[in-house]
This record gives sequence, structure tokens and C-alpha cells, in this order.
Amino acid sequence: MRSLIRFLTPIALLATVALAVPSSAQGSAVPSSAQGAAPQSAPRLAAAWAAPLSTRGRYVVDANGNRFKLKSGNWHGASGTWNGSGSTADAANHHAGEKADQMPLGLDRAPLADIVASFHELGLNSIRLPFSNEMIRDGRPVPDASVRANPQLRGRTPLQVYDEAIRVLTDQGFAVILNNHTNTSRWCCGLDGNERWNTSQSTEQWEQDWLFMARRYAGNARVVGADLYNEVRRNILDDPNWGLGDRHDWHAAAQRAGDRILTEANPNLLIIVEGINWYGLPVDGLPHGRPTLEPVAQLSHTLVRSNKLVYSAHFYGYTGPNHSGATGIGETTDPRYQDLSRDQLFETVRRQAAYVALDGDRHFTAPVWISEFGVGGRDNTDPKSRAWFHNFVDYLVATDADFAYWPLVGWHDNRRGNGWALMHWDAAGNRMGLYDGDDWRADAWRRLVSGGLTGPVAPVRNWSMLTLDHADFNQSVRMRALPDWDSGARKAVCPDGQRLVGLSRTGNRGLCTGAPDTGGHQVVRDEAHVDTDWAVGFTKFQCPRAKTVTGYAVRGGDLSSVLCRDAGTPVGGTSRVVWFDRGDNRPAGGPGGDFATGHYKGQCAPGEHLVGVAYRAWIWSPGKEPDALLCRG
Ligand SMILES: *[C@@H]1O[C@H](CO)[C@@H](O)[C@H](O)[C@H]1NC(C)=O
Ligand SMILES: *[C@@H]1O[C@H](CO)[C@@H](O)[C@H](O)[C@H]1NC(C)=O
Ligand SMILES: *[C@@H]1O[C@H](CO)[C@@H](O)[C@H](O)[C@H]1NC(C)=O
Ligand SMILES: *[C@@H]1O[C@H](CO)[C@@H](O)[C@H](O)[C@H]1NC(C)=O
Ligand SMILES: *[C@@H]1O[C@H](CO)[C@@H](O)[C@H](O)[C@H]1NC(C)=O
Ligand SMILES: *[C@@H]1O[C@H](CO)[C@@H](O)[C@H](O)[C@H]1NC(C)=O
Ligand SMILES: *[C@@H]1O[C@H](CO)[C@@H](O)[C@H](O)[C@H]1NC(C)=O
Repeated sequence: MRSLIRFLTPIALLATVALAVPSSAQGSAVPSSAQGAAPQSAPRLAAAWAAPLSTRGRYVVDANGNRFKLKSGNWHGASGTWNGSGSTADAANHHAGEKADQMPLGLDRAPLADIVASFHELGLNSIRLPFSNEMIRDGRPVPDASVRANPQLRGRTPLQVYDEAIRVLTDQGFAVILNNHTNTSRWCCGLDGNERWNTSQSTEQWEQDWLFMARRYAGNARVVGADLYNEVRRNILDDPNWGLGDRHDWHAAAQRAGDRILTEANPNLLIIVEGINWYGLPVDGLPHGRPTLEPVAQLSHTLVRSNKLVYSAHFYGYTGPNHSGATGIGETTDPRYQDLSRDQLFETVRRQAAYVALDGDRHFTAPVWISEFGVGGRDNTDPKSRAWFHNFVDYLVATDADFAYWPLVGWHDNRRGNGWALMHWDAAGNRMGLYDGDDWRADAWRRLVSGGLTGPVAPVRNWSMLTLDHADFNQSVRMRALPDWDSGARKAVCPDGQRLVGLSRTGNRGLCTGAPDTGGHQVVRDEAHVDTDWAVGFTKFQCPRAKTVTGYAVRGGDLSSVLCRDAGTPVGGTSRVVWFDRGDNRPAGGPGGDFATGHYKGQCAPGEHLVGVAYRAWIWSPGKEPDALLCRG
């Protein structure tokens, strides 16, 4: 329910629109004997996977190359539950009356071990653990009453409690994903001062905080991921964007922070990048909506470790592709997801997010983790909301999607309360669980946690894009350790473990594909290695024998040099010249996808090496854009 993204017009800013939580509970206690699907146990879960995790096409895989489907839930609280007004000590001022005191929720009611054991019952294997920056820095001990059921935690700071939650979770076999949810410790979203990674501080500070968190848990291999930022969205005045190169460019900020975490803090983490959650003003007639992961099709990320990227998106029935989720003031006439028919919903979720995983063999292909979705439970009698949940779960099952339910833990009082959680505890420590027999969500949940591909995932062709739209793009760790290879030029280099196979004529984009990770880098800025005149009258940069192109440098649109490295596999056989000066020239089926929309592109065929690039050398030609590639089998 994190996505309570109440996008209010500035006028409505002060009139908060609360999500109605129906309060007509009629449940009496039901014995919690009913078993759920696929209950786990610590030894079984711990034996089921080996860290670190990485990606293979659309799947997350473990260290042995076996599928590790992220079957996760959000254990919220450490990022704050305060609703932003009134005393933080009064539970009434916390979302749904549930006060977490900057700790994972429920520690006043149930022992940590019991809460974590309940996650096994739910069939989960991983936990998204939100935190706030305020929590990290708060040196005050947590209130005794808030850890009543966990006296061992008395006197600890919120961060030390977070540490302990991570220790217990990972000892129990769970994978943990750190999620930077908020800066200040409060219930997220809407105009809360946490809209953008640099809303209330510099981007540098945001990156530093991430390095701190990544290093803090680097010794625990079951801390597997860094979920960089929650629901990047508009603040009162400004929209975030995907690729404009300014200080609101979320694509660029995530790219940089991800690379820094991998190179400076922990090379093993998955880097989780969420799409843009909201732009524009929610007023009929003005542009507004949820780009989600749509922009990834034209501009994807290429991390220094290209198999560490996971994309994510959030879906709630009461929001919509262009609906803020508000009710009353600030509401537009756009449909909510729960207003869409089943087919429309499937089509919309695919277009906004799932295509990134499902359209394989593209530069953007990556796992998509639906890291938040959820719905009210027992008290929720709204047929639309219930139908939405069933349909949405059907879609997650049908597409074998990675997921994280929001939230796992809540409070109840005589079986009444927030109701969105899957597990609730009352003040006396009595549990109300999903499988008690009176929760309509149980069947859908059983289906959700029981399916999906398991076992070894075969290696797949992999692709990454290079972009010089705004800055250097040096994605090779080997090259980063070497001095500047073309001073004053803008440089793009494939990650180690990939090589270049495609270039755009204009726009300076490139396409990389998987290749053995070798060294032997060598810059070519003249025709010294040309063995035959494969493009008469053109200037040709060609790699020395047994090397393949892995990067390029430009000055404006002009090619300045190419970077070659050892191919690692034989380069020889037939040569082929791929001209793309008058249009696209790419292999049938367009493997790798459109890596430079609106520009002419040349690309070698799968199995071929790109070993040379030619441009027009005539004195009267206006530019030195690449026109032809030399491809060798
Ligand atoms: C916070 O909760 C209190 C008590 O429920 C309520 O009076 C107040 O309006 C809420 N504030 C916001 C910003 O939602
Ligand atoms: C968080 O928000 C507060 C209040 O806006 C601000 O003073 C602070 O610099 C922000 N950053 C951190 C890291 O706390
Ligand atoms: C964040 O970026 C915006 C956009 O350029 C800038 O105006 C603002 O000053 C930055 N915020 C901080 C705290 O540096
Ligand atoms: C988390 O996000 C907040 C903004 O909401 C930002 O101020 C802070 O630096 C981030 N922390 C980390 C560790 O990324
Ligand atoms: C709805 O949102 C989508 C995605 O952000 C956007 O492309 C579209 O233009 C929006 N429609 C309206 C009417 O604002
Ligand atoms: C890329 O590598 C060159 C050395 O080849 C180095 O000078 C440059 O700083 C690197 N760029 C980045 C962004 O790391
Ligand atoms: C990338 O592709 C190469 C060559 O096809 C393959 O050897 C490698 O295993 C692939 N990497 C991943 C992470 O799938």
C-alpha cells in the first residue's frame, strides 16, 4: 500500500485523501491450522539456493545457475509509518493506526523468530526490507514498549534492530533486498518531501548513503539486492524524467548509483531500478500518468556488471495508468486498474512493465520484480477490488513474474484492523493469518507461491545498449582502471564480458552482446590494421588480428577511435560489410532490439565479430558518422 500515491493538486495539498479502510469486520477467531501451499522451513530454504544472485535473460538465478524466483513480501516499518501530522508517539497518527517506531512492524507483539517463521508458512523466499535515512541516523534507543515481545532488542537503535532483523531473516534462509523507501521516517508517498532521490539533499549524499548501506551488509551474502529508490514521482513543481541528462534524470541517477554500489561497495548485489511512478498534475485535461517501465524500451540501463540489473514496478487496484489513486479532491476521470477488464488489465500491465521480461532477446530484457502490490483482506467487500486482485495474481502466475506483496505484517484488534497484511498480531500477541480460513485472498496466494520455472536456466544471448547522449559511458571495469584512451572525446565501452556488435549512424548509440571476458585492450585511431580495402574511399578503423571491437569514441557525431580487445574466440572466415548509411541494416528478427530509435543502425549477425568501422573520408563530406561495419564470422 506504499503506493498510496495521492497525487494532489497543489490546491488540494493540505486536504489529505485517505484510503477508506472499511471497518466492518465480523471475523471471530479461527484456529490457524489450515496449511498454505508450499510452506518452507529454514533448512529447506537455506539449502535451496546459493548466493550471490544474478540475472539470465528474464530470470534471476542463484550462484549455481538455478532459477531463484523472487517470491517476496514487504516487511515494512523501518521506513516509517507516521502520517506526517501530530505526535509520532500516538499510534493514531500512524498509517492505519500501526506504529512501528522505525522498526520492521510487529516487534511489540510477536517475537522476531515467530514473525519470520510466518514468512516460511507463506511460502516466501525473500523479503523487501524498506528503510529510511532518518532511521539510519537516529541514535536514540527504540522505546521499550515497542519491543515488548522482543526484550533482547531493548536499548538498541533502529538501525541495530534493522541489523538484527536482517540477521534473523538471512539465518532463516531468506534473501533480503534493501529498499531505500524514504528519507524522513514516515508513511510514503504523495507530496511528502521524499519524491525524488535529491528532493531534500544532494545526489552525492544519496549515493554516499547507499554505499554505506551496501558496505554495512557486504559480509552477509544473503543480502542480495539494493532497491535504489521507491516510487520516484513528481513533487509540487517538477517531474522526474528518463534520459534528459539533467538533475531530474532518474535513468542517469540510477545508472550512476548502481555502478558505484557494484564497483565501490559490493559487486554481488542485484541492483533494482523502479520505473517512474508518476508525472504531471492529476487534473483532467492536463498530461499526467505513470510511465512505469515504458521508457525502458528505448533507453535501458547497462551496469558495469550487466547481469545484475532487475527492473521493478508497483501496481495497486485503486490507482491506474493515469489515475493517482485519490478519491474526491484531486481525482481525475481516468480509470483505475480495478476498473479495467481482465483483458485490458493484462494488456496494460504488459505494456507498462511485464514486456521488459517477456519480450526476450532485447537490450532491455531483464527480470521484472513487481515489488509492491496488495489489497485489503477480510474487511474488503468491494467486488472490483477483489476481482482486480484475482486477475492480477492470475497475470503474475501466467507470466511467472517475480513479486513482493505489500505488506506482510499488520496489527489487528479482535480480528479487525488494516487488513492488507497477510499476517496480523494483536496487542496480546494473538496471530491472525492468511490461512486461518476466513481470508478471501488465500486461494489466490496459494496459486501465486506454488508455480513457476525451477531448476537450471540455460544461458541466453544477452544484449546491452551504450549511450553517449549526455556523458561518457565507460562500462568496463578493466578500462576504468586504465588511463584516458582518447582525451577530449566522448567514450563508450561495453561491460567486461560483452563486446560491441552494433552502432547507430547518428545518435552515438551502440549495442553490446555477451562474449568471453578478456583483456588486451587496444585503441585504433588510424588504418594501420586494415588488411583489405573493404570500403573504398572510406576511412576504416579496424582491429588487429584476433581482436574485436568493444568500444568507440566520438567528437560530436564524428567517430574518433575504436577500442578493440582480445576476441577470446577465433575471428576469421568470411568477411561481410554491413552498410547502414542509407537505412537500417540489421539481422533478421532484430535481435538485441531497437537500440537507437529513429537513427540508422548497423549490426553484425549473431556469431559474427564486429572488427571494423568505416566513415566517409571525403573532404567535402559534412561529418564522420559511421557508415559501415566489417563483420567477420
Ligand atoms: C494523521 O492521522 C490523524 C489521526 O488519525 C489525523 O487526524 C490526521 O489528519 C492525519 N494526517 C494526515 C496528514 O493524514
Ligand atoms: C532528509 O530530510 C530532512 C528534512 O527535509 C533534511 O534536513 C535532510 O537533509 C534530508 N536528508 C537526510 C539524509 O536526512
Ligand atoms: C536536485 O536537483 C534539482 C534539479 O536540478 C535541483 O534544482 C535541486 O537543487 C537538487 N536538490 C538538491 C538538494 O541539491
Ligand atoms: C533514500 O532516499 C532518500 C530520499 O527519500 C534520500 O534522501 C536518501 O539519501 C536515500 N538513502 C539511501 C541510502 O539511498
Ligand atoms: C497516461 O499515461 C501514459 C503513461 O505515462 C501517457 O503516455 C499518456 O499520455 C497518459 N494519458 C493522458 C491522457 O495523460
Ligand atoms: C573510462 O575509462 C577511462 C580510461 O580508459 C577513464 O579515463 C575514464 O575516467 C573512465 N570513465 C568512467 C566514467 O569511469
Ligand atoms: C551472455 O552471453 C554469452 C554468450 O552468448 C554467454 O556465454 C553468457 O553466459 C551470457 N551471460 C548471461 C549472464 O547470460
